[in-house]
Parts: sequence; structure tokens; C-alpha cells
Amino acid sequence: MEETPSSQRARRAFTAALSATGLLGPWVGRAQSPVVVRFSHVVAADTAKGRAAQRFKELAETRTGGRVRVEVHANSQLYKDREELEALQLGTVQMLAPSLSKLAVLGGGGFEAFDLPFMFKDRAAFRAVADGPVGAGLLKRLEAKGIKGLAYWDNGFKVMTANRPLRDVADFHGRSFRVQSSRVITAQMRALGAEPVVLPLSDTYAALRDGLVDGQEGIPSNIYTQRTHELQRHLTVSHHAYLAYAVIVNKGFWDGLPSDLRTILEGALKEATVYAQGVAAQDNEQMLEKIRASGKTVVYTLSPAELAAWRRAMHRVYEQAPAWMGQEIIDAMRAAAGRSAP
Ligand code: LMR
Repeated sequence: MEETPSSQRARRAFTAALSATGLLGPWVGRAQSPVVVRFSHVVAADTAKGRAAQRFKELAETRTGGRVRVEVHANSQLYKDREELEALQLGTVQMLAPSLSKLAVLGGGGFEAFDLPFMFKDRAAFRAVADGPVGAGLLKRLEAKGIKGLAYWDNGFKVMTANRPLRDVADFHGRSFRVQSSRVITAQMRALGAEPVVLPLSDTYAALRDGLVDGQEGIPSNIYTQRTHELQRHLTVSHHAYLAYAVIVNKGFWDGLPSDLRTILEGALKEATVYAQGVAAQDNEQMLEKIRASGKTVVYTLSPAELAAWRRAMHRVYEQAPAWMGQEIIDAMRAAAGRSAP
């Protein structure tokens, strides 16, 4: 019988779980065996995150002289969005780089502040938050959940897609949009008059193809590599929010590493983080050009007046958000991002 993608995923997850528990046999975990870091993520290998994960692997393996082996599993091969967070806590994978939107379930509501509309005016503003005390404080909150946050990786500013032009706020009315599992993004879609539908990235293509949702928001690199643009005739450049990631590890695993190995891995991750920053901007620009060149999707950039109307509509999210995350984190993030008002 042929395996379906979901039974393949289940089999791989099962094998990974078995090997993590040592049940696969005495040949797993011999003294000379390398330490295996399973690094799972949900996007294509040919994206900023995919390439940064590969760079981390190369640096880690070379610098430890083979004492560490990093297995990168791209494109939800091993786990989908929520499953991968559970797998990390169980220790069946050791490393992930989920979007900050998906971390809310683990670290209280604080991470969702990164999703607040128009929080960041540019990449530097995101880095100022991520590299400062606000970013460090949020990563620290994960420790209570058995997770250690090691770094923030960039991606880029989000755009919207649908099968009809999205210019006026009224264009959203009555339409459904796939969103990540973030209360802020859900509220943002409702503020625009649309119906949000939370789905893993790996289910988005099928949901659009089968008409379960009308549109989605995301960054050009994911839209192109997941082939979403083949199903969506209109893309609006709105840059209404920023997509970024946290590189996180199972804390028990990380703390249990020999300290020399941990130091090498930290150094490798630092370099991979700088690399990710460099490729993310370029990647999204190139992918937007490819989407345009494909002729399948009309790319439209909002006029200043249209953008102002989107912004006004989305402002409602700032009234709801304090109930989920506290006003303090919103104020701290805004101050670090150099935003006096949303
Ligand atoms: C999404 O689900 O749209 C993104 O978080 C995917 C990713 O990891 O870039």
C-alpha cells in the first residue's frame, strides 16, 4: 500500500520518538555516536529560514569535528505547526524556529505583541526589540515550559493575497483568510471585516485550492515556495506586520550537552543568525519579483490613503490586545521599536 504524506509524517515522527527514547536498539546513543540535533521547520529549504538552518548545520558539524550531527527536516516533513512545539517539549526534536506568532501558547501572550499591526517601521526596529531587553525577557519566559530561546531570526513584512483585489477595507468583508495561531492576527482580520481561519502552513495550499478559505497573509518567500500565488490572483503589498522567528531548543537537552559543545553550537548559531538577517530581505524582494514575473498574480502596492485606512481599521486590535498580554509589554515593545503611537 502506498504511503500518504500524512502516514509518512506519522511514521517519521514515530521513528524519531523511538530513537529519542533509545528503544531503537543499543546502536543508538553509543559513546562514540555523534549528538544528534533534529531541527524541524515548516517552510521550504530554499527560504531564509531553510538556508539559515542549513548554515547552522554546516557550521555546527564542521566546528565540532563531527561530534554533533544536525538533521534538518524542512517543509513540515516531520511535524506541522503545533505538533512540532509538542515534539520539542517531549524531546523528539531538539531544535525549532517557529514564527513568534506560534509561541503565544508557550510563553503567555507576550510573543503576540510582535504581531501587532504596524509595530515595526523597518527591519532595524524589529532588531532593536529582538536584541534588547524585551526580546531577551520574552525568550526567558519559555524556560518555565522546558524550552530555551536562543536567537531571533528575521524574515520580512507581510502582504495579503486573495482572488480579488484587496485595496479598500471593504474588500475584506465576508471573506475568510488563513491565519497563524495568534489572537492578534485573528483580531486583525476581524478588524478588517474578514473571518480568520487558523491553519498550519502545510494545510494552506489545499485550503485555498478547495475553497475552504478565500485568502491569506504571509511573506513573498513563503507564498512563492509554497506555490500559493498559483492559486491567488491578487497580492497586495501592505507591510502591515512583520514575520520573524525564535530559534528554540529543548532545555533539558541543551543544558545536558557537554559545555564545550554548547559553546561551539552557540557560536555557530550566532553566525547563522547574522546570515539569516542578510538573506531575508533579499529573499523576499526576489520572490516578489518571481511572483510578479509568473504572470499568475497581480501585485499591487497600497496608496498612502489606502494604507492609512487599513491602519485605522486595524487600530482596534490595540484596544483588545492588553487583555491578552498586558499593556506593559505593548508599551515596552513600542518604545524599543521607536513607535510613539500605533
Ligand atoms: C506561517 O505559518 O505562515 C509561517 O509561520 C511559516 C513560517 O515559518 O515562515
